[in-house]
Amino acid sequence: MQRRIIIALVVVLICIGGTALYLKFGTSGSKENLSSELKDNPSTDAKDNPSTDAAGNPSEDSKVDLSADLAAFTLAPQKKEITIRNMTGVPVTYILKPLGSDRNSVEKTLAPQDIDRLSGGIEMAIVFHRNGRETLYWLDTGKPYTFRYDENDELELYDGSHGRQDTEDLAPFVPTPMIIVEKMLEMAKVDKNDIVFDLGCGDGRIVITAAKKHGAHGVGIDIDPQRIEESTADAREAGVEHLVEFRLEDAMKADISKATVVTLYLLTKSNELLRPELEKKLKAGVYVVSHNYSIPGWEHKEIDFFSILDVQGEEHYIYLYQK
Ligand SMILES: C[S@@+](CC[C@H](N)C(=O)[O-])C[C@H]1O[C@@H](n2cnc3c(N)ncnc32)[C@H](O)[C@@H]1O
Repeated sequence: MQRRIIIALVVVLICIGGTALYLKFGTSGSKENLSSELKDNPSTDAKDNPSTDAAGNPSEDSKVDLSADLAAFTLAPQKKEITIRNMTGVPVTYILKPLGSDRNSVEKTLAPQDIDRLSGGIEMAIVFHRNGRETLYWLDTGKPYTFRYDENDELELYDGSHGRQDTEDLAPFVPTPMIIVEKMLEMAKVDKNDIVFDLGCGDGRIVITAAKKHGAHGVGIDIDPQRIEESTADAREAGVEHLVEFRLEDAMKADISKATVVTLYLLTKSNELLRPELEKKLKAGVYVVSHNYSIPGWEHKEIDFFSILDVQGEEHYIYLYQK
């Protein structure tokens, strides 16, 4: 019976889409349209999902004892590990459903700041409750995910970030739209004499654009190896690999003393954490441009502010500071 339910679930999931998992980054001010196509799909409603009862609660079938399966996950090699980090400040409960395997679903509760490590090399579906509705996402092997609250204070699972306990998780990966990238560089008056540092560089688009359009040098720093690979490949494709460099590093610990311009697209709390590093390491006069999130404590250093719509009509904010 259980096995049939799992198979039925897998078929439903495959039908839903092969749709890619695009997770959303969204505390206040961030309106990136990266929400999963699955999120608003009626087939993710509790009534259609065999893992829950009509009220949307986990069904008895989803509550089986999985200790043996979990032990297997934990003991398997770490290479294709999925990590889920809880950045919400409260415990989060979710159900994991291994895909393409006859392993059973398991319900888990993750304490604040804890990281769930799934090292079985198996793709998973994850189901959690968001504003009373069941939300279902796909988890790819080898990738990190983070629970956070979105701009509506609702629980959301974000792509990117990292599963490390030894360093701050400053923000999940969401790229700045190109129109905003160009405005940020324009506001900081970037030219060929600049060295632009992007702290948490994602796919490297800011430093690559600074190099390609303005002839500037650039250094992109990110904690996620996948982002550094993407950035390096994109720089090569853009023909600016001689001007830019990408470093797999913690932005909190990086040497940024050579920067003439620093760009940020991190959360407000992360900007606050980073501020002492900016104060300690940057030369006087350096421009710091931040997408959407201000730097608390630097109000007196703010020299410009711009509000701009992206191509989807969403409003973005750009804060320009001078150290
Ligand atoms: C919102 S994205 C911004 C990407 C890029 N700057 C842009 O604007 O398009 C934030 C990035 O910060 C990275 N990140 C998070 N914590 C970090 C840390 N401690 N050190 C370096 N990068 C970090 C994430 O991996 C992610 O790629």
